[in-house]
Amino acid sequence: MHFYFSATVAFALSGSVSAHGFLKYVDHKGLSYGLWQPYSDPYLSPIPLRYDRTILDNGPVVGMTGPNITCNNGGNNPLNVGTIEVAAGDTLRLVWDQWGSSHSGPVMTYMAKCTPNCASFKGDSGSPWFKIDQFGYDAAKTPPWGSDYLARQGAWWKVTVPPTIAAGEYLLRHEILGLHVAQDVNGAQFYPSCVHLKVTGGGSDAPSGVALPGAYNPNDTDGILVSLYQINQGQKIYTAPGGPVWSKAAPALQTAVTATSEAYNPTSYAPSVRGATTTTTSPVTTSPVTTTRTTTTLSTTTRTTTTSSSTRTTTASTTSSRTTTTSSRTTTTSAGGGTGAGAWAQCGGIGSTGPTSCISGYKCVVLNDYYSQCQPV
Ligand SMILES: *[C@@H]1O[C@H](CO)[C@@H](O)[C@H](O)[C@H]1NC(C)=O
Ligand SMILES: *[C@@H]1O[C@H](CO)[C@@H](O)[C@H](O)[C@H]1NC(C)=O
Repeated sequence: MHFYFSATVAFALSGSVSAHGFLKYVDHKGLSYGLWQPYSDPYLSPIPLRYDRTILDNGPVVGMTGPNITCNNGGNNPLNVGTIEVAAGDTLRLVWDQWGSSHSGPVMTYMAKCTPNCASFKGDSGSPWFKIDQFGYDAAKTPPWGSDYLARQGAWWKVTVPPTIAAGEYLLRHEILGLHVAQDVNGAQFYPSCVHLKVTGGGSDAPSGVALPGAYNPNDTDGILVSLYQINQGQKIYTAPGGPVWSKAAPALQTAVTATSEAYNPTSYAPSVRGATTTTTSPVTTSPVTTTRTTTTLSTTTRTTTTSSSTRTTTASTTSSRTTTTSSRTTTTSAGGGTGAGAWAQCGGIGSTGPTSCISGYKCVVLNDYYSQCQPV
């Protein structure tokens, strides 16, 4: 409980947080796939299974030319992420925890084929991305900005998996770009999330061509270095960054002239236990990451999930021989002291070159292979 209290305090003190946000669920055919919740998931034991890459907090990516633009701050860790199995042509509803109306800007969604699979693909080099949906500024709509429309209809967005893409694993990168202070260089605020998909069916199309980082230029006066009021007053045409939507993407789904409010209430949850496997049927893989492990129980209707305000408890009520493997995640406590990373800062992980200890009163906790964080002792 100590950690919850601390996290809540940190949350409350971190500025105008009410306007920020992050993805909370992906809904596919009525099943809610939980996404990484940065203010609670790191403090659960064991760490729950989520279907997107971890993010650090609800804040934006600052500086769009570095690696954090790919999949948000938080290390772009491809490991231990659940995979949502979908068919090409399926509709997904992407549900945010919230979105404040003061952060106007476009809503954009990209995909990238994971090569060779999402457990080893970061998407931060080359040009693997293609845009499947966007809503920038449309004066004929109420409200006209994509993000305001998203907020008005209940903090969610619907996209269609392109019907003709080749089967395989993909990252789905959904993003809001907040332009409220974008008149300053690097004032534009990007809020991306990367969800793991396994697409079945489809055709043979293999689109790509957009680099992230690469496609976003701080000097882009059409889409990034812009003043909201000039666009709102019709003095300037807005063009969202990242290029046009791929020509064979499915039609946009947010077509109503006026956004209609519809709250999203999950009724059925996908598994949220990491490492849960069906030992009788799952083949043993040589990799420590099993991307198929999360889809084996999706149709198990007897599975129930109970959500309380502070912890999520998943109860498998099946009578099968299903076993749950508890993660062997280790928590490292460092000695603390006068030097070291500050509160909630990174203190280690693959690729990290920063401090490996924390300031006094904090200990270094391994969140995943790529990210360790200083949390209160
Ligand atoms: C990426 O995000 C992490 C976590 O917020 C931050 O510590 C790091 O400085 C960022 N890297 C760059 C290049 O901005
Ligand atoms: C943006 O413009 C500034 C000033 O002209 C320049 O120094 C900088 O290199 C430009 N950045 C990019 C990414 O083009």
